[in-house]
Amino acid sequence: MVIFFSGTGNSRFVAEQIAELTDDKACDAALYIRKGETAVFTEPGRYIFVAPVYAAAPPKVFMDFIRASRFPGSVQAYFIMTCAKEMSGCPGFWENIAREKGFEYMGTAQIRMPQNYLLFFRMFTEEECRASVTRARSSLEGIAELIRDNRELPDPGMKAWEYLSARAVTGAYYKLFARARAFRVTEGCIGCAYCVSACPRGNIRLADNEPLWGKNCTHCMACINLCPKNAVEYGWLTRSKTRYKGPYIYSTASSHAGSD
Ligand SMILES: Cc1cc2nc3c(=O)[nH]c(=O)nc-3n(C[C@H](O)[C@H](O)[C@H](O)COP(=O)(O)O)c2cc1C
Ligand code: SF4
Ligand code: SF4
Repeated sequence: MVIFFSGTGNSRFVAEQIAELTDDKACDAALYIRKGETAVFTEPGRYIFVAPVYAAAPPKVFMDFIRASRFPGSVQAYFIMTCAKEMSGCPGFWENIAREKGFEYMGTAQIRMPQNYLLFFRMFTEEECRASVTRARSSLEGIAELIRDNRELPDPGMKAWEYLSARAVTGAYYKLFARARAFRVTEGCIGCAYCVSACPRGNIRLADNEPLWGKNCTHCMACINLCPKNAVEYGWLTRSKTRYKGPYIYSTASSHAGSD
């Protein structure tokens, strides 16, 4: 079973690909997270968890979901992080969770995918997005082979200080940045509600045909990137910045973004 959390679709795409290659099923954790629910996963055998890197660490909301859910039949856990550059301290977080949950830790791999954090980073060009998605697909084949053979993923050689610095970076990120306060809608909004269904936290609702943001934002950037009219801004930080429309337009795989 592959369980994923995704904002703009990169991790969903990777989860679906890896599920296909390992003959597993993919499950979107947002189906539970949106409703504030946890789950009992009774499928026996290995679990593969896929998520984006947020400020050097896995998304807190996804780690909390795994901690609170139950996996009575499981024995092994693999972790795959999608990131624009580096997964940093993620293996340390996952090793701890694997220990807490009684999983046999089988390693953490990183897959580089297009950047989606338009607030602070340069967005990839179309060409870079296409190259990144194509490279990801071939890297996944090697990872899937290891998983199919029940082997551990290669040790990324993370140092203790990398985990400690990731803890500090991610702590500051949740304290200072992960807020929806600065989101606003422009006159281009057509009230289509796509942002509502794209939000993996269920943090957006429509009022008088316009989105209103709540207090449960994890800064996944789905609403601002995926709006079909590019009608969402984040203060002045995102004016005239490119929006990332997800990996499916760079691949032959079909899109499921925003479904529930
Ligand atoms: C809040 C936030 C923080 C991020 N931090 C990092 C980071 O520390 N390192 C990195 O390489 N990419 C970082 N990224 C980029 C994403 O990890 C990357 O684009 C990911 O594939 C997005 O996955 P998704 O489409 O499944 O949401 C960040 C993105 C966001 C939205
Ligand atoms: S997705 Fe864009 S156009 Fe549609 S309701 Fe949300 S902000 Fe408006
Ligand atoms: S409000 Fe927007 S940025 Fe925040 S969690 Fe929802 S979709 Fe992601």
